[in-house]
Amino acid sequence: MKNLHPIIDDSRPKVYIETYGCQMNVNDSEVILSILQDDGYALTEDISKADVILANTCSIRDNAEQRIWGRIEQFRQQKNRRPGVLVGITGCMAERLKDKLLDSRAVDIVAGPDSYRSLPELIRSASPDSPQMNVLLSHEETYADITPVRMDKNGVSAYISIMRGCNNVCSYCIVPYTRGVERSRDPRTIVREAAELFENGYREVNLLGQNVDSYHWKDPENADRDVDFAQLLEMVAKISPDLRVRFSTSHPKDISDEVIYVMAMYENICKHIHLPVQSGSDAMLEKMRRKYTREWYLDRVRKIRSVMPDCGLTTDIIAGFCGESEQDHKDTLSLMEEAAFDSAFMFQYSERPGTLAAKKYPDDVPPEVKTARLNEIIALQNRLSRESNEKDVGKTFKVLVEGVSRRNSGELFGRASNNKVCVFPAEGCKTGDYAVVKVLSCTSATLISRIV
Ligand code: 5AD
Ligand code: SF4
Repeated sequence: MKNLHPIIDDSRPKVYIETYGCQMNVNDSEVILSILQDDGYALTEDISKADVILANTCSIRDNAEQRIWGRIEQFRQQKNRRPGVLVGITGCMAERLKDKLLDSRAVDIVAGPDSYRSLPELIRSASPDSPQMNVLLSHEETYADITPVRMDKNGVSAYISIMRGCNNVCSYCIVPYTRGVERSRDPRTIVREAAELFENGYREVNLLGQNVDSYHWKDPENADRDVDFAQLLEMVAKISPDLRVRFSTSHPKDISDEVIYVMAMYENICKHIHLPVQSGSDAMLEKMRRKYTREWYLDRVRKIRSVMPDCGLTTDIIAGFCGESEQDHKDTLSLMEEAAFDSAFMFQYSERPGTLAAKKYPDDVPPEVKTARLNEIIALQNRLSRESNEKDVGKTFKVLVEGVSRRNSGELFGRASNNKVCVFPAEGCKTGDYAVVKVLSCTSATLISRIV
């Protein structure tokens, strides 16, 4: 069996990896480490000991990229102090800003999301006088045969990428340009990876894709053996009742009744759906090219709640998209109330060069209006999260223990099936155990509990 954990070996050259952006990027860093470990490298968490410094980057909003440019300047100091150190940029920003990164002279290697297999070669060929780049996007690459080296410390919960790329063209989004076309991974390799994690003590897998509901494996020999997302979920859930299954991200236009029924059927498929709505206004949804309406979205929510009354529901919201009126904004607020989200990721619209929105619609909501609307959305979500948590006071939940609470070393934390974080006194329990807890009180972020 392949080594799932970083190799500790002082004699090996060292790579330092910093990860930005989504869960998919976290998993990609694990793929990168696996490829480099096979090539003789070992991971270091100390940048001053690194022979190769990698930043696995994100382009989703301008502020994500600005942060990384700031880091690249700091990497330059490492290079000045220790000539010979190589700096590489991987991920979405590598794909989007390839030449600009090389022109900065602070970067020696640029590798896009489908080029990680070529990293050893790029590193071997690169020098400050001869920077190296591979940003070819692929129609096939899924890294299916690579066992990611897990960098997390808890050894309980792991990401598994089930597909790559995205075929939706949401008008605001850079991802289809940085991650290429959608491709699904062979389900047998997914089940094998999940089973291996379980054998190694992991108790939760999180199946990742930009749009998991459009997962579709085409069997090359027999179309009757094609696998869709509902079937994949079931295959993974059957590995063991003690292996929890989560997934992200669902798309409101694609989430099927079958997926909802499979979730309901298996206790170990966690009752939580991350269902980004983006806006509550039909006019904005149309311009965003989300391909659903407010009513369609709310209907999906009703379906989920009717089949799984206790299902956690979370979302993403963008404030201040092109042409957004005060009424459009109010429609978002009223949808949030109706859907009663348990939590949300909330952002101001950030124009991304090259996207449909950047080409077609002026970014015309003034920054102070964007900020004011975002603040209103955040304040409302705080109230909704608190109300949702208050409803859970007095309930009991089965929690998978993920670690020791940061605030109090005598307390543990873990998540309930609905994805809410519970904190409770350890009472002999340890990381990786399941605990049944009763909720005593709450904040807007945590359920304060005790083991029953
Ligand atoms: N500006 C602001 N937020 C964005 N997102 C995607 N693109 C943009 C953008 N250009 C948000 C969406 C998406 C989440 C991952 O990031 O809400 O669901
Ligand atoms: Fe960022 Fe999107 Fe790329 Fe993830 S896929 S790293 S969120 S731009």
